[in-house]
Amino acid sequence: LSKIEIKLGDIPEGKNMTFKWRGKPLFVRHRTEKEIATEEAVNMAELRDPQHDKDRVQNPSWIIVLGVCTHLGCVPIANAGDYGGYYCPCHGSHYDSSGRIRKGPAPLNLEVPFYEFPDEETVIVG
Ligand code: FES
Repeated sequence: LSKIEIKLGDIPEGKNMTFKWRGKPLFVRHRTEKEIATEEAVNMAELRDPQHDKDRVQNPSWIIVLGVCTHLGCVPIANAGDYGGYYCPCHGSHYDSSGRIRKGPAPLNLEVPFYEFPDEETVIVG
């Protein structure tokens, strides 16, 4: 299936859920106020792949990224690592809760796919 429809009400605040989309894991994370504030305040100069959090989300409560490490393609673990976002156990890449690479060998941020919110309860990815 080229598109996937996800009901946002099924994902509590602070949780990440993994879906399968186009043969890849897709992460949909309902961020807390604290996570949003932390990611919006990150200094761009600290980032390997500089991207402001605002340019990675449409609604700050939701981060939607491919669950594919940009190093060699392992699936990162959610709510883990030094930055509380995602941690890839294969070779130790740490991503923040915006999916941005912060430490370890991965060169790029987790990829944000095309998606839209047809209403407040739903996201369609693809
Ligand atoms: Fe993720 Fe190497 S594949 S750190």
